[in-house]
Amino acid sequence: MSFQVKVQPSGLQYPADEAENLLQSALNAGLNLPYGCRNGSCGACKGRVVEGEVDLGDAPETSLSAAERDEGYALLCCAQPRSDLLIEVREASRNTDFPIVKLPSRVQLIERVADDVIVLKIKLPPSENFRFQAGQYLDFLIAGGRRRSFSIASAPEHAGELELHIRRIPGGEFTGQIFDSLKVRDLLRFEGPLGSFYLREGDKPIVLIAGGTGFAPIKSIVEHMIASGIRRPVALYWGARDLSGLYLDALARSWEGVLPDFRYVPVLSDSSDASWSGRTGLVHRAVVEDFPDLSAHEVYVCGAPAMVDAARADLAAQCALPETGFFADTFSFAADSAS
Ligand SMILES: Cc1cc2nc3c(=O)[nH]c(=O)nc-3n(C[C@H](O)[C@H](O)[C@H](O)COP(=O)(O)OP(=O)(O)OC[C@H]3O[C@@H](n4cnc5c(N)ncnc54)[C@H](O)[C@@H]3O)c2cc1C
Ligand code: FES
Repeated sequence: MSFQVKVQPSGLQYPADEAENLLQSALNAGLNLPYGCRNGSCGACKGRVVEGEVDLGDAPETSLSAAERDEGYALLCCAQPRSDLLIEVREASRNTDFPIVKLPSRVQLIERVADDVIVLKIKLPPSENFRFQAGQYLDFLIAGGRRRSFSIASAPEHAGELELHIRRIPGGEFTGQIFDSLKVRDLLRFEGPLGSFYLREGDKPIVLIAGGTGFAPIKSIVEHMIASGIRRPVALYWGARDLSGLYLDALARSWEGVLPDFRYVPVLSDSSDASWSGRTGLVHRAVVEDFPDLSAHEVYVCGAPAMVDAARADLAAQCALPETGFFADTFSFAADSAS
């Protein structure tokens, strides 16, 4: 059975099957709503049900609290419609420019840039015009209809080849294969572009916060700014445990000479390295120290769930960052591996 969903304040409408989650139905209908993981772990797809009935599905308490449920909130990647609906979602638009497609790709480069990080380059079929927004991710399609998400690290301007930064997960099935058996010229199938982590238009100063391989979509955003002439003040904070975790440190430093108002601040959480004279501690705390007032900024955060959650809470509470100025992508587990 199909129901009609109206999204406010955009006024957009779409049909939603009762057996499909509300996010997937929106994507099927060519609508863009905010989302990240698509499995209930990041909270990016939260919306409020103003009228109508939904089944909240498997929404975990960590992403949708009891108080939020009482206020009518739902995770759209988990909730299914049980009647026609009116829902409230902060950003909604028609997705005509960046259609989600499934494509084959061929491995072009496998470069070990740290003990546990590989830079992977994949080539797309010459006949395909794959378009994405800097900051978005793709899903590699693996055996058994399963998928693994990775952010695109190259700029959309470099058509035909995509760069990805892959951190090895101990015992990880897919990342283990990438490190141990993947070869140049192997085929990888993927679906994309996905997610709503991309640079919003405007002229507000930007703070970019990356944790580990969370640097990947941030690199895409900065290289897109360089290639397309977007000139806004940017402060990039890149956090890692030790120096090897800043696996493209020289590249990040070089952007200071390319963008006119760009500052790069590397932050190490392990302060035992005597050769390190830079910032130490949690990367988002360095931002809190440097920016007591973020009320007129946009902040883009990418990395592990704990880092993203702490940044969201502390920047709002201690730096007056409005919710509308916070954008994040959370590197959570795949749905079939969450434990
Ligand atoms: C939107 C999005 C974008 C992402 N982009 C990137 C990226 O650009 N670069 C990158 O390196 N990673 C990225 N990730 C994380 C990446 O998808 C996972 O690390 C990957 O799915 C692990 O797959 P696997 O098969 O190797 O591990 P699995 O076999 O699925 O997992 C093995 C075990 O490891 C643990 N585990 C799984 N994933 C993680 C994790 N991320 N962190 C800690 N423990 C984990 C779980 O306990 C699991 O049981 C992204 C995730 C999301 C949701
Ligand atoms: S919780 Fe729904 S997209 Fe992450």
